Amino acid sequence: MDYKDLIATGISGALEISKEDVERLLEIPPRAEMGDYAFPCFQLAKTLRKAPNSIATELKEKLHLDAVERIEVMGPYVNFFLNQQAFLKDTVETVLSQGETYGTTALGENKRIIVEYSSPNIAKPFHVGHLFTTVIGNSLSKIYGKQGYEVVRINHLGDWGTQFGKLISGYERWVDLTKLEESPIEELNRIYVKFHEEAELDPSLNDEARMHFKNLEDGKPYEVELWKQFRELSLHVFNRVYEELGVEFDSYAGESFYSDKMDAVVDLLKDKGILTESNGAQVVMLEDFNMPPTIIKKADGATIYATRDLAAAIFRKETYDFHKNIYVVGTPQALHFKQVFKTLELAGFDWAKDCVHVGFGLVKFPGKMMSSRKGDVVLLDDLLKEAVETAKQIILEKNPNLENKDDTAKKVGIGAIIFTYLKNSREKDIIFDWSEILSFDGETGPYVQYTYARGKSILRKNEAVNEADLTVLSSAVEFELAKTLAGFEAAIGAAAEKYEPSILTRYVIQVAKDFNKFYNNCPINSAEPAVKKARLLLVQATTAVIKNALALLGIETVEEM
Ligand code: ARG
Repeated sequence: MDYKDLIATGISGALEISKEDVERLLEIPPRAEMGDYAFPCFQLAKTLRKAPNSIATELKEKLHLDAVERIEVMGPYVNFFLNQQAFLKDTVETVLSQGETYGTTALGENKRIIVEYSSPNIAKPFHVGHLFTTVIGNSLSKIYGKQGYEVVRINHLGDWGTQFGKLISGYERWVDLTKLEESPIEELNRIYVKFHEEAELDPSLNDEARMHFKNLEDGKPYEVELWKQFRELSLHVFNRVYEELGVEFDSYAGESFYSDKMDAVVDLLKDKGILTESNGAQVVMLEDFNMPPTIIKKADGATIYATRDLAAAIFRKETYDFHKNIYVVGTPQALHFKQVFKTLELAGFDWAKDCVHVGFGLVKFPGKMMSSRKGDVVLLDDLLKEAVETAKQIILEKNPNLENKDDTAKKVGIGAIIFTYLKNSREKDIIFDWSEILSFDGETGPYVQYTYARGKSILRKNEAVNEADLTVLSSAVEFELAKTLAGFEAAIGAAAEKYEPSILTRYVIQVAKDFNKFYNNCPINSAEPAVKKARLLLVQATTAVIKNALALLGIETVEEM
């Protein structure tokens, strides 16, 4: 039962104002003694020409709702206290009957959302920063999927640009083929770094590199073959990471995909009369919007990153007719996306407003350097390996008899990393602290996974229960847990609206905390049979919601740990 809806309908009828307005005002109070829902009346004072408190008092008189046990007026507020037993029963039954589909809505029916994420650069390390976009994008895809949208997951690979000319020049001179086979990205990156060093001493290298890129653009087989090889070698490494994380894409259309679609963009901007020349370059001026111009074509005739993004956005609209086109890319690129979106708007595309840049902060490792020019980057492979190994050590200590330790360690270790990334609002920088990430208590992945496993272990140790009279559960702790479980759909909605998986992470932490409070306060084994049965159902519902919520974050659960 949708209690919010029920109360909103009641208030809307009693006050003769729209239900939407009521729903906007209806709050969930911070403390239980203020009720389960609260309706503030001060905003209505003007329209209704009455004092907020009298509106509240009249509302209380008029309303009679079965599911609401008691209504109290507190100053300008009307506080609603639900019938706790009925609420708990209703919630647990809903969770259990809906199972994996609990929290699913049809909000996005017949609408498509593009989520572009990960988008690493060919021949460059996939580093811990790329992991950030990967886990946010993966989670957002699942969240929109849960809301019934058709999601198109795009990996906009950085596989085009003048750097490929440099790589080819460097490859010809310095490649070590054995190393290229062993660890392709490291070798390609080494060549790339070396190219920059050498070009400082011998600038003619740059001309050669430009020639190679020109040939690549013109489709000359020699350059195309090498480029393909770089791309494949890199993708092979990236795919290993994706597999490890359980991340998938529907399209790998990256920058190179648009290389033959750029002339059309230039022509279009010309036709719209917004392309101007500036120092030999073709640009779209954005001074009226306090932004530097979008460069479309450089003085040497080369198109750039922004041009490819314009082509990509137009292609996506034509191909997918998206409801929203979301870019999960670091905050340092915020200006780039503002320019691209504004340029689309100036070109007359009203759907420019449906393009969204979802930014995120930096990832910091105290004591380690992050520059990709140096060899000293924290590679993603290392990060994941370290997490899994540490998880295994902890498991060995805590539960030496556990079967399939390796599989568990993998799920716990990787889950812990994903959880850390998604724990705080995405714009915040992340400072990695190993001792915290893998801790079993505190707000961590292992804590939530452990809570799930504890619930599962309780269920394993008891006879399966299919039905029970849930109204025998009457403690405040049980009611609080049920209320949190009932808040799943709202948490999904808020996360989707704000492009913020952390809302779900906070949510699942709350579920785990409420569950542990329940576990510590409400004995199961020593309870009388009817209560025990009902509690087991509550445990079952809780584990279902934790699993469901973690899945939306891209984290797996383990039955035992
Ligand atoms: N490859 C870029 C990078 O690693 C990110 C691409 C972002 N997506 C886009 N459509 N521009 O920084």
